[in-house]
Amino acid sequence: MPLDPGNVVQNQIYLSRGTPWPVGAADWEARAKEALEHAPFDYVAGGAGTEETMRANLEAFRRRNLRPRMLVGTAERDTSVEVLGLHSPVPFLLAPVGVLSIVHPDAELAVARASKATGVPFVVSSAASSSLEDVAAIEPPRWFQLYWWGDPELAESLVRRAEAAGYGAIVLTVDTLNLGWRPRDLGNGYLPFLDGEGLEQFFTDPVFVERLEKTPTEDRATASLMALAAFSNLGLTWDDLGRLREWTSLPVLLKGILRGDDATRAHELGIDGIVVSNHGGRQVDGSIAALDALVEVRDAVGPDAVVLMDSGVRTATDVLKAVALGANAVLLGRPYVYGLAVGGAEGVEAVIRQLAGELDLTMALAGVRSVAELDRSFVV
Ligand code: FNR
Repeated sequence: MPLDPGNVVQNQIYLSRGTPWPVGAADWEARAKEALEHAPFDYVAGGAGTEETMRANLEAFRRRNLRPRMLVGTAERDTSVEVLGLHSPVPFLLAPVGVLSIVHPDAELAVARASKATGVPFVVSSAASSSLEDVAAIEPPRWFQLYWWGDPELAESLVRRAEAAGYGAIVLTVDTLNLGWRPRDLGNGYLPFLDGEGLEQFFTDPVFVERLEKTPTEDRATASLMALAAFSNLGLTWDDLGRLREWTSLPVLLKGILRGDDATRAHELGIDGIVVSNHGGRQVDGSIAALDALVEVRDAVGPDAVVLMDSGVRTATDVLKAVALGANAVLLGRPYVYGLAVGGAEGVEAVIRQLAGELDLTMALAGVRSVAELDRSFVV
């Protein structure tokens, strides 16, 4: 077992008289802020519009409380989950986050190392700073997140590459067919893609490279502009999803669903899983908190559908609340990015180990022996 039980993690820290790492999401964020330049920090920490939805995501967790159950006998616990054939030792995965090179030079490769060391799966982004093949060479490939670029041949090529590299599912992000209106980045005049960050899937793609007069190594600026021009795809509709099925036999999840009717539609179309998410409040400001949407989506698709969620998960109790309210597992976003900023692969690993430790210990203290036991009775 790559992850220690929560009380062991806790005792290690006490016996060592502390830890060099921050403890708790707020502390990690503060240390990341110190470590990063202003604009890259804002790119990660910021959201769309007034950032109302970003705050709502956090508040939705604070509005709900756990109802611990006593004297259950929790000496043995099972924190693991299995989702569409993907095993995780804890009910969280690492969310697809692009342009990680702006917070640490090792970017996705560092996250892949932390993922391999802990067994917690990493969903690799289409907007990564490392090619999907290079990430797959470090850890067993897990899931691949797809941005369906405006250029369909390019999207197809990406999907076929992911399947060939051994990824186990395609997570199609449907809430970002164009970047949201993000005042911090607009104010800073900062868009990392313009500097060629986060475009490695493009730069290593034969279909994309064939369209260029000069390779991305020879002329990075033009290649970056071409990639940016291919990004926006606001015309994508439900009718297009059939094409994705022609490109791959892998399971497909839709990430960014916030309504029961959309979830039902996806379910009826044979989509294998839903990720309830508002992209961490980075797309539609004023939209519903993801945790509130989770309840509606789970009710709409029933108990057997695969439903994950992200946006606002900061603590172990957040994970437990989301699972109790119907998520098969959640995705951890900004917190591990702050770990990367603070300490590279080791920082990400420390974030994961702390969260897993807190989760296991809290399950023990709340009378939960396995993830499957978590139901709505645990939340009020
Ligand atoms: C993201 N997210 C994201 N999602 C995705 O599908 N593909 C991507 O490339 C990215 N890139 C990205 C960059 C940065 C800097 C952030 C913060 C987020 C969204 C991510 O997967 C997840 O939905 C959010 O991070 C969840 O919100 P919290 O919990 O991090 O606030």
